[in-house]
Amino acid sequence: MSRWRRREAGSSSERPRAPALGPATTPGSRKFWAIELLAPRNRARIEAATGAQDVEVSPGFDASPIFALGVASLRYAEDEVERCVRKGIDQYLILGAGFDTFALRRVDLSGRLRVYEIDHPDVQALKRERVAASSREPASLPTFVPVDFEATSFAAEIAKSGFDGGRPAVLSWLNTIPYLTQEATVTTMKEIHAVLAAGSRVVVNYGAEVPLTPDQIAFLSRLQEVVSSAGEPVRSQWKPVDFAAMLSDIGFEVLEHASEVDLTALYFEGRGDGLKPGVPGRIITAERR
Ligand SMILES: C[S@@+](CC[C@H](N)C(=O)[O-])C[C@H]1O[C@@H](n2cnc3c(N)ncnc32)[C@H](O)[C@@H]1O
Repeated sequence: MSRWRRREAGSSSERPRAPALGPATTPGSRKFWAIELLAPRNRARIEAATGAQDVEVSPGFDASPIFALGVASLRYAEDEVERCVRKGIDQYLILGAGFDTFALRRVDLSGRLRVYEIDHPDVQALKRERVAASSREPASLPTFVPVDFEATSFAAEIAKSGFDGGRPAVLSWLNTIPYLTQEATVTTMKEIHAVLAAGSRVVVNYGAEVPLTPDQIAFLSRLQEVVSSAGEPVRSQWKPVDFAAMLSDIGFEVLEHASEVDLTALYFEGRGDGLKPGVPGRIITAERR
């Protein structure tokens, strides 16, 4: 892995190479919820798509370079969750869960892993409406914990949810930090540290302030227009060294600091359609000290 990688104490092997991201390997059930949770007007469009490049969030704008980064980040976190479950961790917190389908689709883990989804109250309410309106009764559901990271205390809300802060957990916070101010991000990271037991794992990604190619500058400026007009402007970017230092100062040990190049090598090699992360990204696996 990149120069950021630090071997885990006692780790006997490198991270095993994961199979490339591709069409759902388990027919039906794995993608059922992803489609079911879409706004009805978008379902037919997505079902008719022949490849990721057809998934336009805005007419004429091919979002696949950022879409691939986001999906790869989710997969990277789920690989860490699998490793944690194998070690006996039985609590998974998903911050900024949005329409994440892990809890609905991983029925196989429902007896072994309790999932908590922490998200903005409005988005969470919409997700719950869509689950309730689904043609299929969910076999497993997360515990929903409504939190506005800019206004509410994550620690106060999670304390009411049944989460056991006395035992280690795994936590992911993905594709959300760019939409928050640096202040809200730091406050929430401190709260995460306060509620997690030592030995817990966190996987977080953030908007990286790194040199860009002219194509990346053009893409990101168009993306900013699209997300701003959808009411979710990008609010923060971090220099990788600053983000890692912030985590370390709060009390996390950074175990791995991966880039879009690492994610491409892990999940996109050998694809025939050219899909891969097309913008810089950074994702960190850290342990709560
Ligand atoms: C782009 S979505 C990512 C969803 C999911 N993690 C994923 O990767 O598919 C961003 C998420 O951040 C959440 N979010 C943005 N601002 C927030 C805030 N102030 N408080 C809580 N959640 C927020 C949104 O509700 C949304 O679920």
